[in-house]
Amino acid sequence: MQVIIKENYEEMSKEAAKIIKDEILHKPNLVLGLATGSTPIGTYKELIRMYEAGEVDFSKVVTFNLDEYVGLPSTHNQSYFYFMQEKLFKGININPENIHVPSGIVKDFNAYCQWYEDEIDKVGGVDVQVLGIGGDGHIGFNEPGTSLVSRTQVVTLTEETIEDNSRFFEKKEDVPRFAITMGVGTIMEAKHCLLVANGEKKADPVSVLIEGPITSQVTASVLQMHPKATVILDEAAASKLNRIDYYKWAYENQPEI
Ligand code: GLP
Repeated sequence: MQVIIKENYEEMSKEAAKIIKDEILHKPNLVLGLATGSTPIGTYKELIRMYEAGEVDFSKVVTFNLDEYVGLPSTHNQSYFYFMQEKLFKGININPENIHVPSGIVKDFNAYCQWYEDEIDKVGGVDVQVLGIGGDGHIGFNEPGTSLVSRTQVVTLTEETIEDNSRFFEKKEDVPRFAITMGVGTIMEAKHCLLVANGEKKADPVSVLIEGPITSQVTASVLQMHPKATVILDEAAASKLNRIDYYKWAYENQPEI
């Protein structure tokens, strides 16, 4: 796992966007896994800036989002589809046919979850998966206790997640209780996992993600088992790590091979 600690949110976002840009330059039809939440907004802003500056072309990129609230249509202003449209898609030249965000309003969720997995397989799997981390250590919406080999499924959100995400809704009661999410096992199949986290509130889950035991109680910790995981943090999110000096040293002294 590579740990990159940046001075602030802006630098963290720039670093994440640069990694994504380099991957697209290397593979123009990159399969890009995307996350929602406030954390990646800066990364998406930077990707839009890069697109406007002619530094990157999204016309062949294919995207798969991690998750969506059950019950919210894509037109709802708190749906993750809407979020992606506003924060990234409308600012870049992505082909709408290449966008995949799980639907929160299907009749047969079991069949739909399998279909979503199959769509990912059809394009050869996710190349780069952008991830945030929940206050309770979740990735996607894989709450504490989720099997570390789980596949795309419908899950019940924890009270903590509902509370955390209520800031985006008028009242807490409006936050959906269920979500559809790529499983931990699905996420682990991405060739490169890129997790971003900022702020003091993420310091505890980040310390387990990087230095704690691998546990389904903090589903992000499974990334310790991923062959290519990059974690980009700001100083506040890194503040509870024991080996900060080493991570900085290793970043500045990378082997030239
Ligand atoms: C939601 C999303 C996660 C995201 C998390 C953190 O629960 N399902 O993918 O990582 O929120 O959100 P934020 O970045 O706003 O802290």
